[in-house]
Amino acid sequence: MSGTVHLERDDDIAVLIIDNPPVNAGSSDVRKALLARIAEAEADTTLVGVVLIGAGKSFIAGSDLREFNLPLEPPQLPQVIEAIEGSSKPYVAALHGAALGGGYELALGCDARIAAPETVVGLPECTLGIIPGAGGTQKLPRLVGKAKAISLICTGARVSSPEALLLGMIDAVADLDLCEEAVALARSLAGRKQRVIELPVPEEKPEDIEAATSKALAAGRNRSHIQAAIRHVMAAGTVGAREGLAAERAEFQQLRVASEAKALRHIFFAEREATRGNLPAGVKGRRFESFGIVGAGTMGADIATATLQRGFPTVLVDSNKEALARAKARITAAIDKGVTSGKLSADAGDRAKANLVLASELQSLEDCDVLIEAVFEDLETKRSVFAKLDTIARPCALLATNTSYLDIDGIAAATTRPKDVIGLHFFSPAHIMKLLEVVAGAESSHEAVATGLAIAKSLGKQAVQASNGFGFIGNRIYAAYRAACEFMLEDGALPHEVDEALKDFGFAMGPFAVADMSGLDIAWRMRQQQAATRDPAARYVAIPDRLCEMERLGRKTGAGYYDYDDKGRPQRSAVVEDVIVMASDAKGIARRSLDAREIQRRAMAAIVNEAGLVLEEEIAARASDIDVVLVNGYGFPRWLGGPLYWAAQQDLEELASDCAASAAAAGPSKRRADLDALFGSGLPNSTA
Ligand code: NAI
Repeated sequence: MSGTVHLERDDDIAVLIIDNPPVNAGSSDVRKALLARIAEAEADTTLVGVVLIGAGKSFIAGSDLREFNLPLEPPQLPQVIEAIEGSSKPYVAALHGAALGGGYELALGCDARIAAPETVVGLPECTLGIIPGAGGTQKLPRLVGKAKAISLICTGARVSSPEALLLGMIDAVADLDLCEEAVALARSLAGRKQRVIELPVPEEKPEDIEAATSKALAAGRNRSHIQAAIRHVMAAGTVGAREGLAAERAEFQQLRVASEAKALRHIFFAEREATRGNLPAGVKGRRFESFGIVGAGTMGADIATATLQRGFPTVLVDSNKEALARAKARITAAIDKGVTSGKLSADAGDRAKANLVLASELQSLEDCDVLIEAVFEDLETKRSVFAKLDTIARPCALLATNTSYLDIDGIAAATTRPKDVIGLHFFSPAHIMKLLEVVAGAESSHEAVATGLAIAKSLGKQAVQASNGFGFIGNRIYAAYRAACEFMLEDGALPHEVDEALKDFGFAMGPFAVADMSGLDIAWRMRQQQAATRDPAARYVAIPDRLCEMERLGRKTGAGYYDYDDKGRPQRSAVVEDVIVMASDAKGIARRSLDAREIQRRAMAAIVNEAGLVLEEEIAARASDIDVVLVNGYGFPRWLGGPLYWAAQQDLEELASDCAASAAAAGPSKRRADLDALFGSGLPNSTA
């Protein structure tokens, strides 16, 4: 039994309490119970109105997605909503916590909506590859207009009570007691029905609707469910209500079982699971109330922005005074931007700025609960910082490094408390990117790792737990992917061909455009550090070294794999193409053209093979964690569910032969992952 609905009376008003802990997800049991209580209330002639409210922390936070892969059991939500709309009595939805998706559609079926001050409402279906299927696309435009409805539905925005009131998504915000005020509202409506579906769609300027449409299509990468959502909103008011609702429902049912929605549900569940990490049950993290950051460069400043924005007092230390001044300007600008864009209130922005302390001495970190090191990517520099932190930090402080590739155990060994040391690997820009790899060293305590996971949550990040190993999960796999793309340059492709093919596949950017954006020098420095220990049998592509020697370090020097015009637009570079052709000649490779499909398959094979190795070596605990990392940190298309989910949908024989070819192209020392072990368990498919 998953959920029920209680009927209580407040004199002549029935209060239907939806009860399906923890968030009152709409399940088939809840729908059945709702229908039964609606019929009961309808039959009782002493009742003049009905309030719908949720038990516990929420109204209905959404539908139970586990039901979505199967045929939906009757009664379905539209039937419940029809019963409310067909009732002779007014219904008031009393919203608190979250009223999202089917929860908000249920509220749209009522005659009025009142919400507690901290409520969020919205229709997030599009973020799961579907469209609202119980009237959302037909009713929301009647309340907020088509342009706003398109933008709210296509982005899946969660709207807080004050804004929802301004927009017309709710009718009132409760002052004190939500239920009492909802009952009073229901009583004031006695004898009347005011169905949203019967309202006219407000008149709007066509150009406003067009602007909202183009923005939604661009942001939604022109995906078919975004197009469908727009189509149905546009139909509202121009076709009959019954016809509009039926068409919306039919499309929802199709999209619900399509591959894209399945992939998006997979990644949704994968993200939730990753958040829990890979720790024994019951491990608790430590309390933390303040942060200290060492190194005020790009990462240090942005990590400080992330902690300050979430209200944490933060001390930022750098031995270089100019770096501190630059960091202060960067942080202030980012916080001000947060205020102008509405992400932060003006008060929160002022508090964030006041919470920043800049210092030149590590001693200033003595009172901080969490210390994050973000100095140069050099083992000895980091070890010397950790040795000093060890003498300064409080006994229960967490010591974290933001290293991209270095050995966490080597860093932890510089302290007398390796159990307190973990990796917190942020992605650039750290105040914007969602992903945070929480890296457990060999000696890190469970408690320290649990604290890392809790830090991710409190900063609004998506945590994934990783073990110690070169590049952890993401950078290790990305390095293999980038190397495969460089092999393709030597074999005959050009940077723009590789980038275009991988963008067509769905990546947010191609690998060479990414390299130009991040700067080619970081990887160059790493290659120089590894030169002495590199396996001579591994295939080494010297093209990026040549570009760095020519001071083509990427966008920051105005040139990298591409030339950049004065507006910053990338252009093919004849110089780079000469370097590439010479590199092929130097190895005696006869260049041939590679079509988009070959480029995509070779790149994906490299990712899948490396992902398999990362799992075999237990750097990642779950296949789905790798999907979460690539989707949240590396621009892998979310609608394909992550690389291993994608792989599990492929012809496995063909994929195995691609992976073999990919490993062979990387040189004789490249290990092949055991794909049978990887897919034999059906792992990536099973969570959706
Ligand atoms: P950066 O070069 O911009 O900044 C490093 C800062 O550390 C400089 O301001 C320097 O003055 C300061 N510093 C160096 N030694 C110090 C010491 N002993 N005491 C105090 N301050 C010291 O470097 P960036 O890019 O911010 O990287 C920092 C770390 O973050 C590196 O480990 C890097 O691998 C990692 N990282 C970088 C990413 C990126 O995209 N840039 C992404 C994720 C991690």
